[in-house]
Amino acid sequence: MAKLWGGRFSKATDTLVDDFNSSIRFDSRMYVQDIEGSMAHAEMLGRQGIIDKNDADLIVKTLAEIKKDIDDGKVEFLIDAEDIHMNIETILISRIGDVGKRLHTGRSRNDQVALDTRMYLRAQIDDIYALCEELKKTLLDIAENNLNTIMPGYTHLQKAQPITLAHHVMAYYEMLNRDCSRLMDCRKRLNVMPLGSGALAGTTYPLDREFVAEKLGFDGVTLNSLDGVSDRDFVCELAFDLSMIMTHMSRFSEEIILWSSNEFGFIDLDDAYSTGSSIMPQKKNPDVAELVRGKTGRVYGSLMGLLTMMKGIPLAYNKDMQEDKEQIFDAIDTVKMCLPVFSKMLATMKIKKDAMLQGAKGGFTNATDVADYLVKHGLPFRDAHTVVGRLVAYCIEKNTVIDALSLEELKGFSELIDEDIYSEISLETCVNQRKLVGGPAMDTMRKIIDNYKKD
Ligand code: ARG
Repeated sequence: MAKLWGGRFSKATDTLVDDFNSSIRFDSRMYVQDIEGSMAHAEMLGRQGIIDKNDADLIVKTLAEIKKDIDDGKVEFLIDAEDIHMNIETILISRIGDVGKRLHTGRSRNDQVALDTRMYLRAQIDDIYALCEELKKTLLDIAENNLNTIMPGYTHLQKAQPITLAHHVMAYYEMLNRDCSRLMDCRKRLNVMPLGSGALAGTTYPLDREFVAEKLGFDGVTLNSLDGVSDRDFVCELAFDLSMIMTHMSRFSEEIILWSSNEFGFIDLDDAYSTGSSIMPQKKNPDVAELVRGKTGRVYGSLMGLLTMMKGIPLAYNKDMQEDKEQIFDAIDTVKMCLPVFSKMLATMKIKKDAMLQGAKGGFTNATDVADYLVKHGLPFRDAHTVVGRLVAYCIEKNTVIDALSLEELKGFSELIDEDIYSEISLETCVNQRKLVGGPAMDTMRKIIDNYKKD
């Protein structure tokens, strides 16, 4: 097939090079954006009198027909037409001849691919945002049903202080909130229209860039043509945002894996969201959580790949940049696959409240509250810390817990201790006294949840 750029060449491209160079395998997924961009460009060329108005109309009409044919699976793309841009232009020319050849006036594939990528990623951001919102809703439901499900909170994976499952789950809600706001930041920065940048130095035609921007839903136009064709910040930025979403899901996945183990026994994953073993009949494995954790690696890989691909390339467009697509597409596909399945896995898991409570009773999770009790009765905190440290060592020795000691035994450690110690260090008190904003107390969490439900 003759190349659209073949004029100065005396030989056909080697088929190896055709295969090597071609991006149609993966950029065909931007055909909607490519066609919408071309329609707006053609309409603008007609309005500005750069091409004949009737020609513009015919181009727009034919592009709409091509889109429909692609939607219906009637079009086969060609490897040697290189990419989605030239495939569609080739089809256009095959249908309307010379008129079709006028479409590319005042445009380069360099600003065209920048436009398509921005539009495609914008739509993907909106999809992913909606999926994050769904996961947030699942978290909110779990939290609401577990405002007083006491469980151990951990640091260093050692039992630390009692919290509630609502508090724990809402920590992930905060992460997801930041993820959503990061996605919107990225969307804002990518939503500027690059057509008019040309190959690198703009164009001599009196294009109406603002018209095209408005038509395609952009907030404005790019202000430097070199940057317009070579900026891929928004691709890297989105890859980072997606990596962060995966980071968050992988942390929760790790906890789900631990919690579903026989050692913890805090949750039971639904049969529909677990798998068995081919040899061990008793096994029920948390594969979904493990795969989400594992797939985090490939999204990070995309981010590193993109950053490394962009590193050190001179202005303006370089073919290296064609490599942005597979990486960001893979990251997008991965996140879009993980979010809904992760969300469903959480929504269907059985929470074993008794096991959580039992877990919170071990590991001296109320030791800080014993120290705080002594402080309230006048002891400086550092001294209280030492007293309770001794108390804990004594309990370990006797294989018991603080609450199980008699008042006499307790008084042996500090005369300040009285009968009310037992209610003051009960797990319920420990949780519900932590009622500062951000803390696990039931009333505090209730208010936070109600507030989020209003959004
Ligand atoms: N397929 C190319 C890409 O994805 C489109 C731009 C090609 N421009 C060029 N001058 N070869 O980057």
